[in-house]
Amino acid sequence: MTGPLAPLPPGSIIGILGGGQLGRMSALAAARLGYQCHVFAPEADSPGMQVASARTVAPYEDARALAAFAAAVDVVTFEFENVPTAVLDTLAPLVTCRPGITALRIGQDRLAEKRFFESAGISVGPWRAVHSLAELEAGITELGLPAVLKTTREGYDGRGQAVLRQAADAAPAFARLTPHPLILEAFVPFAKEISAIAVRGANGAVVTFDAVENRHAHHILDLSIAPAQVADSVAMAARSQVAALATALDLVGVLALELFLLPDGRLLANEMAPRPHNSGHWTMDACRVGQFEMHVRAVVGLPLPAPEREHDAVMRNLVGPEAYAGWARLAAQPGVVLHLYGKVRGEVGLRPGRKLGHATWLLPAGSLATQPDPGLLTAL
Ligand SMILES: Nc1ncnc2c1ncn2[C@@H]1O[C@H](COP(=O)(O)OP(=O)(O)OP(=O)(O)O)[C@@H](O)[C@H]1O
Ligand SMILES: [Mg+2]
Repeated sequence: MTGPLAPLPPGSIIGILGGGQLGRMSALAAARLGYQCHVFAPEADSPGMQVASARTVAPYEDARALAAFAAAVDVVTFEFENVPTAVLDTLAPLVTCRPGITALRIGQDRLAEKRFFESAGISVGPWRAVHSLAELEAGITELGLPAVLKTTREGYDGRGQAVLRQAADAAPAFARLTPHPLILEAFVPFAKEISAIAVRGANGAVVTFDAVENRHAHHILDLSIAPAQVADSVAMAARSQVAALATALDLVGVLALELFLLPDGRLLANEMAPRPHNSGHWTMDACRVGQFEMHVRAVVGLPLPAPEREHDAVMRNLVGPEAYAGWARLAAQPGVVLHLYGKVRGEVGLRPGRKLGHATWLLPAGSLATQPDPGLLTAL
């Protein structure tokens, strides 16, 4: 269902599929606007469930539980894009789903995503679909090495990918990475990684946040620096690309686009996410209306205000127990806003490599341009 144009009134119930921190922060933003959230996820006591007003703990394959969930809510949104196709088929005829089925289907398949970028006029690096070892070897001959071999589905935080440096890396990586098909990408010698976030309303209006620079550690996002310290033309290009993509996808909600900035100033799209994104967490504290409230506003049909940035910001992810252990110091740090995701309890708890929270250091607007780079880290 495409859904109504009039806003859902406060008190309406937003269904959130998925129990992670993105749903948790969406639910908190929804509560501030007077909406309630019903979280559907397989794991009890998940970060989203802890702050929801209603919960369904059931596997995504449980069609009866999904139908009951659809009947109990006024609109459904998704806090991750790797929703099994059958879930979408069950929900879509019963309830308005935002961002929309097309965006989710494309966003969960790297091959479909690359083709969609190209059809929307957004540049990507060279790539090949890989269905067999022979296709992989042909791809390596055409694209050269190093190259990156990735699963087309369910990769996140660098899982489901391998950097191929020599021909002998091909066969073991092909065997290890499943399910097939895979995608082979030429290694992009980027100068920086940046991302941009758009929000599109049910009426088609689009707003964008400032582009940010992202730095990774151990294949997981470590820092987002807002605004990205890049030429204005680069930042504007990133914003207009993500806005164009949101419109081309006919999506309602938040869309993030990860881009590689080449040393010559060109941008190549890496991947998108049709949901609030880790590289947008800084907006919660540095903008008048952050990405989670924007997403909620789009989902319920409220107007989207200009997402004005009031501060410069550096967001650091708290990944694994070691980073988490700094919570009391961060909570005491002037200018730092701490967010923890409630993952202390539960079966997996403070497992290494898990995103357990984030901290955003707020600085006066414009100060990053004059701040020497190592200074970024003093507060975090
Ligand atoms: N073709 C490439 N060339 C160079 N570096 C790459 C390439 N593809 C991926 N990377 C590096 O690996 C990181 C993770 O890749 P990608 O975003 O495709 O996977 P992911 O598992 O979905 O990650 P995440 O969940 O963190 O977004 C990128 O941010 C980039 O640093
Ligand atoms: Mg990525």
